[in-house]
Amino acid sequence: MLKIGIIGGTGVYDPEILDGVSEENVTTDYGNVRVMVGEYKGVSVAFLPRHGAGHAVPPHKVNYRGNIIALKKLGVERVVATGAVGSLNLEMVPGEIVLVDQFIDFTKNRVQTFYDTPGNGVVHIDMTEPYCSDLRRVVAAAAEAVDVPVKGKGTYVCTEGPRFETPAEIKMYSSLGGDLVGMTSVPEVVLAREAEICYCTVAMVTNFGAGISPNPLTHAEVLEAMEKNNANLKKLIMKTIETMPGARGCRCRHSLAELGSLGQGK
Ligand code: HPA
Repeated sequence: MLKIGIIGGTGVYDPEILDGVSEENVTTDYGNVRVMVGEYKGVSVAFLPRHGAGHAVPPHKVNYRGNIIALKKLGVERVVATGAVGSLNLEMVPGEIVLVDQFIDFTKNRVQTFYDTPGNGVVHIDMTEPYCSDLRRVVAAAAEAVDVPVKGKGTYVCTEGPRFETPAEIKMYSSLGGDLVGMTSVPEVVLAREAEICYCTVAMVTNFGAGISPNPLTHAEVLEAMEKNNANLKKLIMKTIETMPGARGCRCRHSLAELGSLGQGK
């Protein structure tokens, strides 16, 4: 059974660290999802490029529900997701990795639940700690072990995209307490919790937000920054896989318990 899933965001498209990679075509209620599966140091790992190979799917069209349920069906219990982000916080500089601990949701048109069909129940999932703290601790310890500097917390503002923000929006997000801005963490993190999967985001700062950065933003600039810092991200993910504890002790695995564990294994 596969236990660890990596969702690769912008600039992270190839499961290059894995051996014996094969492609699985997983059927879900939300369409077929292609997942790469392989091994790293004897650990089974599933790899899913969020935007498809070559960044073909924009953030607002990602099949978030299909992706999470496909990983669940493969037996994935923990997901480490990568994401490129802009920074609103002068202490979180391009090239730096942040293990976000909160989000503020400004998405507009995304389904955030598996429980939206008649007879399937209604779920109001707890988001007090949206990103699994146990998993964040494992990643933070791995970062220390491989000497990759990370910031251990930060608030991710999720926008609908695919456009970048206006400077006025960046100012507002900052005044609301946001540190970083990206386009994909929501609803991925929410759906992972509904699927009782531990989830954390390893956010790579690629630029300062619009208006803080003196130049107009480009996707090329984001890709370039990801490329430049890819080695650190890879090192961090490899160590994280290698040091992942066996059993889970956190609450993520029981997040639906109070609701009677509805609708598992879609
Ligand atoms: N805004 C939104 N998403 C992003 C940014 C940004 O500035 N940089 C990388 N992803």
